[in-house]
This record gives sequence, C-alpha cells and structure tokens, in this order.
Amino acid sequence: MHEGTALPGWTEMLVLAPLEWMELVGERLCVATCATVAYGAPSLGTPRPPAGMDYVRAYVLDSADTRELRALVEARIAGLADATGARELAGLTVRFRRLPPEDYASSWEKVWKPFRAGPFAVLRPSDRRALRATDVELRLEPGAVFGTGRHATTRLCLALLATRVARGERVLDAGTGTGLLAVAACKLGAGRALGFDIDPAAAPHALHLATQNGCADRTEWRTGGFEVLDAADAEFDGVLANIYSDILQAHAHELCERLRVGGWFVFSGVPDDHALATRAAFDAAGLRVETERTRGRWHAFAGRKPA
Ligand SMILES: C[S@@+](CC[C@H](N)C(=O)[O-])C[C@H]1O[C@@H](n2cnc3c(N)ncnc32)[C@H](O)[C@@H]1O
Repeated sequence: MHEGTALPGWTEMLVLAPLEWMELVGERLCVATCATVAYGAPSLGTPRPPAGMDYVRAYVLDSADTRELRALVEARIAGLADATGARELAGLTVRFRRLPPEDYASSWEKVWKPFRAGPFAVLRPSDRRALRATDVELRLEPGAVFGTGRHATTRLCLALLATRVARGERVLDAGTGTGLLAVAACKLGAGRALGFDIDPAAAPHALHLATQNGCADRTEWRTGGFEVLDAADAEFDGVLANIYSDILQAHAHELCERLRVGGWFVFSGVPDDHALATRAAFDAAGLRVETERTRGRWHAFAGRKPA
C-alpha cells in the first residue's frame, strides 16, 4: 500500500494508570500533534497490569518527539494528583518508546473487534457472520479518524439515537469523525444527513463509510466547524453531536437554533467532571434533556427542543 514511500516513525508514550482515571490520563498525554490515544496493553508480550490498573497509550510522530515535548508530557502527568486531589494518581510515570516502522494506519485494524450498540451490529465490510433478524447492520473500516465506534461516547450515542430517528428526517451530525452516527441515522431511515468535522480526513472517510453502507446519496459531508452551516441549511429534525464538552457548551445555542421545535438531539463527549456544567448549558440554550446515560466516566444526553 505504501510501496516506495517511507513510513513515518512514531513514538509511544505509555502510562500504567488506575482504571477510573484512564480517560483523564489519555487527555493529559495528548499534546501538540498527538491525535491518538489507545487503552490496554500495546502487545501480547506486555506484562499483565495489576488489578485496578491498565495501560494508556498515546502516539506522536518521531519528528514531534523532542526533549521539550517529553518534559511537557511528564509534567502534565505528574501534575494530575494535585489537579484532581486523587492520591492514586501520585507517582504515575510515562515510558517513551520509539516504535519500529510499520503501517499503523492499517495495522491497528487487525485488533479491531465487531460489537453491538443498541440495535446496531457494527462489523467490518468483509465480516460474513450471520446476524439476528433485528440487527441493524453497520459496516465500518476502522481508520485514522476518531470514531472506530468502540469509544464509550459513540456507543452511548448509537443506543440513544436508535429510538429517536423517524423515517425521512433531516439529521445534523456535528463533529462527525468517521460519519458513523450520521450513517447510523440513515440506516434507521433518515432522509438526509449532514456531517461536518474540523478534521480534513473526516469527510472523505465519512463518504466512504456512507457508500459502504448504501446511503451516500442521502448524505453530505463538510470540512470545518459550525461556520460551515449557513442559512440555507435551516433547521434539522434531529441533531447529533459527539464532540467535546467545552465545544458543546460554547455552541449550545447554535445546536438549539439548528433544531426544529419538537426535534430531538443526542449529545456526548462529556466526562464526569463536566457533566453538570454541560447539562446546564443545554438548559440555558432552551434544550430539554430527557435522558442522561453514562458509560464509565462518559455522559450522553438526549432530549427535545420544547415548543
Ligand atoms: C469525540 S470525536 C466523535 C466522532 C464521531 N462523531 C463518533 O461519535 O464516533 C469528536 C470529533 O469532533 C471533531 N471536532 C472537534 N471540534 C470540532 C468543531 N469545533 N467543529 C467540528 N468538529 C469538531 C473532532 O475532529 C472529532 O472527529
């Protein structure tokens, strides 16, 4: 696939962390050009973690792996115990390791496993296993864009949107990533879905996903933030946003304005410590939260725009 092209080198930053703090440790590891966090042992040869702990890994290109970056990451991890008041975070260390050259963009697919979320069975395109009659099939080729579907927030959103989408509806997906949520809405009968994401890799990936799932003609993908929406887009019957809590808070009014009266929403990307403030921002924007679900440290909210 990369014949004749030198593969980029990567550095792994690994922390053994308490299970209930893994997401936060992952956030702290992510600085500068780091865009990927993974959980669990990096290989079968890695020693089994002690009870109550597991590995958190983040990756940066070798070109970004400088002495300054390492010092910054170490300081961010060392500061966690004071920042949270959690004694179990004292003494966490970061192990930096330059990895051998490999095509990581495709090799991490090897460990991706199919899963169910709500009525959805999420499988690779090549998976031929028999499904239940009630399964809604979603085909996904995990790639470099956020949204392998396995993240707690995506699963929460898949389950919540399943009971809300009605046939023919127009759906907006803010921070669409792979496009999985928008495509899931189409699989349930949405007539149109518009997804946008600041990551330029998202739109082509999402179009590919929509094509694989037979709904490309009902989708539109744009690159950018909320500014990509204009007056002609008008209001939507449903709005999905699995984004980050600070962005949800900052754009709560806009999310509400994009929803028709009586329309539904499903939002996630909200960790425990931001849940109250984010829910308050939805209330203040005029959205009525009807359901709040959690998975691990993550919260998802669903509800409607009242008359
Ligand atoms: C947590 S991921 C969710 C991806 C996908 N919706 C899912 O549920 O699997 C959040 C996505 O939001 C995108 N994003 C972050 N800030 C954004 C913004 N201001 N406007 C649009 N997209 C944004 C990121 O690039 C990322 O793809």
